[in-house]
Amino acid sequence: MKSVQRAAITAVSHYVPEDIYPNTWFESKIETSDEWIRSRTGIIERRFAPQDMATSHMIVRASERMFADFSIDKSTIDCVVVATVTPDYVFPSTAAIVQNALGLKAWGFDLSAACSGFVFALETARRMVESGGARRVLVCGADKMSSIINFEDRATCVLFGDGAGVVLVESIEDDTVGILDAFMGMDGSGCDSLRMEAGGSRHPASHETVEKKMHYAYQDGKTVFKSAVVQMADAAYQIMSRNNLTGDDVRWLVPHQANLRIIDATAERMGLSPEKVMINIEKYGNTTAGTIPICLSEWHAKGQLDYGDTVVLACFGGGYTWGSMLLKWAIKRT
Ligand code: ACO
Repeated sequence: MKSVQRAAITAVSHYVPEDIYPNTWFESKIETSDEWIRSRTGIIERRFAPQDMATSHMIVRASERMFADFSIDKSTIDCVVVATVTPDYVFPSTAAIVQNALGLKAWGFDLSAACSGFVFALETARRMVESGGARRVLVCGADKMSSIINFEDRATCVLFGDGAGVVLVESIEDDTVGILDAFMGMDGSGCDSLRMEAGGSRHPASHETVEKKMHYAYQDGKTVFKSAVVQMADAAYQIMSRNNLTGDDVRWLVPHQANLRIIDATAERMGLSPEKVMINIEKYGNTTAGTIPICLSEWHAKGQLDYGDTVVLACFGGGYTWGSMLLKWAIKRT
């Protein structure tokens, strides 16, 4: 019997909307300042998609770019997984819309794990590929957070942005690279601290839900911060320690980009110097499921990711959900 081959990310790309909204844009709308946003979060600007651009549109643009850049025959993709909390519709899935728009022959589904969505989707794809259940999986992390932001709530509206990142996951011959390990966690007691209450079966859309602004993302920032800072650092630390790695062994930490202070705490717990940490929160804010694949795509495009680099992904999000992944980068520099 043929031995199971390791799954790897073999292609990557991203799309962010063109329109840039600097912190100063909010100053005339709510009581806030560029200084507060920068110092509390690390964010300087973010991108918001135009009204007629949905999450699927951003994924399709990122995917088309990836197919072109990596000469991918799209007929070989047999599954699409979309991690998002801002699907185009409650149903059908955004995966189905993407599959049709890209002309794929794949099956697929959406996955909801908020800011941990991409890592959860990547782990799902890895398991599918390594079990032989799929050959090539298009894994998408994308959110149009501007569609669920209350632009009158200064505690949340300044934090988020829109964007999409995509990767291709498949098995590879070289067993020195690929996805080596994953560590996932969830604690549903955090549900109330970070949520969008209405639009589902518990509170279907009604005049009342609209009047009470229940269709917006709500976050108890301080409570979430306390959990995020512990769990994201802990997830990254756990995956290092169970693989006998120290900070010296890790080339890149790719953290979810929610807050620079959470990222710094994670890097410190891992014993990493700042130049080993991918950070682009200053340009995009928190794009939820998009942050990690957008980082991977940008660093690949800049030629700063080398074949064989040891990379740790780390995330924390609504649920609560959290996770980390250990990989050896499997894309050669172009
Ligand atoms: N401008 C100015 N002042 C503000 C703003 C703003 N935009 N927002 C809040 N404030 C005020 C608050 O009202 C508060 O004022 P008060 O002391 O008079 O009550 C003060 O600033 C401090 O507020 P805190 O909430 O304590 O600020 P904190 O330092 O905690 O930063 C933040 C807030 C940035 C939201 C932080 O708590 C955070 O990053 N939380 C975690 C985010 C996260 O990791 N989320 C998970 C992923 S997201 C997902 O899964 C979709």
